[in-house]
Amino acid sequence: MTQENNIENVVAGFQDPDDLSSNPSDNRPFASVLDAYVSRRKVVAGTLAGSTAAFLAPAAQAGWGWQKPKKNQELVGFRPVEIADVIDTTMPTISKDYEYQVLIPWGTPIEPGATSAYEGDPNSRPSSKEAALQTGLGHDGMWFFPMDFKRASRYGKHYPMRNDAGMLCINHEYGTNTHALGKDLPENLEDVRLSQNIHGVSVLKIKRNWRGQWRTVKSKNTRRITVNTPVQFSGPAADSPLLQNPAGNIALGTVNNCGAGYTPWGTYLTCEENFNGYFGSISEVTPTEEQARYGFNQFGFGYAWYAFDKRFDLNDEDYVNEANRFGWIVEIDPFDGTQKPVKRTALGRFKHEAIAIRELDDGRVACYMGDDQRFDYCYKFESSMAWEHAIADGKSPLDEGTLYVARFNEDGSGDWLELSMDVPALAARFNDMAELLINTRIAADIVGATPMDRPEWTTIGKNGEVFWTLTNNSRRTKPNAANPEAPNSNGHIIRTTDNGSGSFSWDIYILASETVNEEIAFSSPDAAYADEDGRLFIGTDGGQPQGLQDQLTIFDTTKDLDDGEIPQPKRLLVGVNSDEITGFTLTPDRRTAFVNIQHPGNGDPSSTNFPAPTGSGLIPRDCTLVITRKDGGIIGS
Ligand code: FEO
Ligand code: CA
Ligand code: CA
Ligand code: CA
Repeated sequence: MTQENNIENVVAGFQDPDDLSSNPSDNRPFASVLDAYVSRRKVVAGTLAGSTAAFLAPAAQAGWGWQKPKKNQELVGFRPVEIADVIDTTMPTISKDYEYQVLIPWGTPIEPGATSAYEGDPNSRPSSKEAALQTGLGHDGMWFFPMDFKRASRYGKHYPMRNDAGMLCINHEYGTNTHALGKDLPENLEDVRLSQNIHGVSVLKIKRNWRGQWRTVKSKNTRRITVNTPVQFSGPAADSPLLQNPAGNIALGTVNNCGAGYTPWGTYLTCEENFNGYFGSISEVTPTEEQARYGFNQFGFGYAWYAFDKRFDLNDEDYVNEANRFGWIVEIDPFDGTQKPVKRTALGRFKHEAIAIRELDDGRVACYMGDDQRFDYCYKFESSMAWEHAIADGKSPLDEGTLYVARFNEDGSGDWLELSMDVPALAARFNDMAELLINTRIAADIVGATPMDRPEWTTIGKNGEVFWTLTNNSRRTKPNAANPEAPNSNGHIIRTTDNGSGSFSWDIYILASETVNEEIAFSSPDAAYADEDGRLFIGTDGGQPQGLQDQLTIFDTTKDLDDGEIPQPKRLLVGVNSDEITGFTLTPDRRTAFVNIQHPGNGDPSSTNFPAPTGSGLIPRDCTLVITRKDGGIIGS
């Protein structure tokens, strides 16, 4: 194939990375049970409080908030953004009770003086060196780690955590070549390095000044982590030859960092999602069965890094296993800028969307994780050790334990199916646990997991229940109990409650299609965060009903619902043209929230210039919004 042909195909291949399916298996079609779910909603919801009390514990959990709402105050009481309030979609619209400020748009130096700022001039771009010291593009999952977290967790109340200063870990999921480079394809290695450096993770120290304005400040722990940063592997697959290359190159980097999570021991977890899209080749690629299951092909998503960086060339024999080094959850210490990020292989390899951790009553942790692709699965990892004992012994609770995948039964029960060499069908397919983990999706196919409508974020509710966002699935033709619409154009939210390690009960919390003609309209739920009072914050990613842009909408999950009644979320924020609302984190007092405006205008200045003023002609830039209630109240109230 000629270079020219290749380039045309690459450009044509630049598509929404979330929108491809690579599960050829057809696990468990169920009869449509749309009616059944409505009546079950009440029943399962009613069992939640009782059944969780025994098994789930301090769950809501590593929850770092402590402020309680006033008595008789509605849990989600703010004046919502009405559809009619959204007049100018080149700028965000926020509830009348709230205000926002813009923090760390793409190109902000990671600390004062680190480098120059890039402010969106359409005729220039940062150099790759500048980009390595600036915040990147594709702001997505993030977590705020308050200063004094470690001392506060050791000594308790006497050392309250700071609400005005902390480390912000934030993912830079992606930026197209057009947005980042100002052209469709890289022309040299410098272009590739620029594209690589706008991806990855930023670890920043942020602080509120006396005027209430947040900004970055200097810290010895400030850093950028990119696809070229040294990392290490840990857990059962760490020493596998399948993670080594003939080239002998050390393990480097993380990419397509989508959602995130945090641990009770104060570290950040970043999730590698559409990693396949960065690999490809100038010449034809014949993917192996294993590569095909993860969606690898010749053109990837159009980044064409492989043209100048051999690590990403699927046909380069020297780097034959490089692709296996991606698709993991990576642990980052926000309070140690010298720490080498750790890829935790026990958590499996798939298109990791996000992770939520729940502490069990025996001190172990359960980690809930979605694999975001049409017809892929919901996973859980349970640690073998109580986390405090493991940490005290210098071990990671995330290195030893059991990985499970979910099967949703029609009757509202579910099974956590073990993925280990103790399962005969898996022992027959894989040589060892390392090979199984590297091919987690294939293992899950074999045990008969339920193919879902794109599992995105997970979050732990007030009573230890887990909310799973299923964003949509335009290609579903056969409904099943847990995915009752075919096609599923608007997505839904499932709620699960574990009954011990191996089983769970579940119900559908809401089908977004039930809202699309109402004032509460939303579609394509994606980012999720539940607070300890029972609020559920949902960020959306996809075309919204009734002419809306993507939004942040909030549920009161403590409300009792009558049969057939649906939850009534309130809209806090509506974004700008072609953006996505994602990432959500709070200060410990829950008076300040951080949420991301991702890919505003898809990088096109004729769509919006946000965060620059409309009409400025500047390129729109991904950024974080700092959200506060005008009366200083708890976010969501
Ligand atoms: Fe990166 Fe599935 O969203
Ligand atoms: Ca997402
Ligand atoms: Ca999404
Ligand atoms: Ca997206």
